Amino acid sequence: MNYALVTGASKGIGKAVANELAAKGFNLLLVARSESLLEQTAGEIVARYKVKVDWYALDLSRPSAPQNVLDWSRAKGYTVQVLVNNAGYGLSGPFEKYSLEEHWNMMQLNMQTLVGLTRLFLPDLQTQGRAYILNIASSAAYQAVPRLSIYAATKAFVLSFSRGLHQELAHGPITVTVVSPGATDTDFPNRAQLGEKGMKAAEKFNMSPQAVATIAVRAMLAGKSEVITGFINKLGAAMAWLLPKGMVEKTAMKIYE
Ligand SMILES: NC(=O)c1ccc[n+]([C@@H]2O[C@H](COP(=O)([O-])OP(=O)(O)OC[C@H]3O[C@@H](n4cnc5c(N)ncnc54)[C@H](OP(=O)(O)O)[C@@H]3O)[C@@H](O)[C@H]2O)c1
Repeated sequence: MNYALVTGASKGIGKAVANELAAKGFNLLLVARSESLLEQTAGEIVARYKVKVDWYALDLSRPSAPQNVLDWSRAKGYTVQVLVNNAGYGLSGPFEKYSLEEHWNMMQLNMQTLVGLTRLFLPDLQTQGRAYILNIASSAAYQAVPRLSIYAATKAFVLSFSRGLHQELAHGPITVTVVSPGATDTDFPNRAQLGEKGMKAAEKFNMSPQAVATIAVRAMLAGKSEVITGFINKLGAAMAWLLPKGMVEKTAMKIYE
């Protein structure tokens, strides 16, 4: 039986993507830290859709996590057809506000774990007639964002890696799609410790996680390489490309205290 593995599926965009995939008939493997939220999400999806759902509570920021997920999936006899690398978070404020350990933890989850899962599940995905990798980046991937610098850099990494891998795998069964949401109504701003201005800006332009998930899964199934969600976010990325970089960066810095 083939499964879609979704990281960060306990809430927010990941949970919405899991629901969207279940609606399309995919069985699900849900991974995040919160055992109770995973159990609840799995229960809701099973009740709503006729699919199989299993979950694994794990801190994906541990270096051993990608191997742990592969071992768990193998031990349970699951075949993964879809890999959704969604788990991630940001940290806003001046660079020195956070310890090196805090920065590294975010970098580990946003980049290393994403690469680790992609590399470890690749052989299984390659045995499928058709397989998908969906990576969640961010509109922050399209420019440097002062006071959100490391987060934006991790998402620029996700964007560049995903585009490169999409081309590398172009003649096989796997497509790689990178989706970049802008402000989305999830727990992200709280964990990122956004200040008042950041919160207000996010609220102004928020998309729902469901809307993001619909766009993401549609793009993934169509085998697209890259999608930015929503008109405003597309416009933002275009402006960041067109306008002088320093001007764009100074404007962005005003949002994040
Ligand atoms: N919301 C936005 O405005 C926005 C904009 C652009 C991009 N994004 C990206 O979208 C993705 C999803 O974020 P979201 O907005 O849905 O935020 P969210 O509501 O905070 O959800 C984050 C998910 O990742 C999981 N997660 C966090 N740390 C983890 C860890 N160490 N190990 C395992 N799972 C972990 C969380 O579950 P647990 O807490 O249970 O572990 C949760 O399921 C992220 O990659 C984020 O960077 C979000």
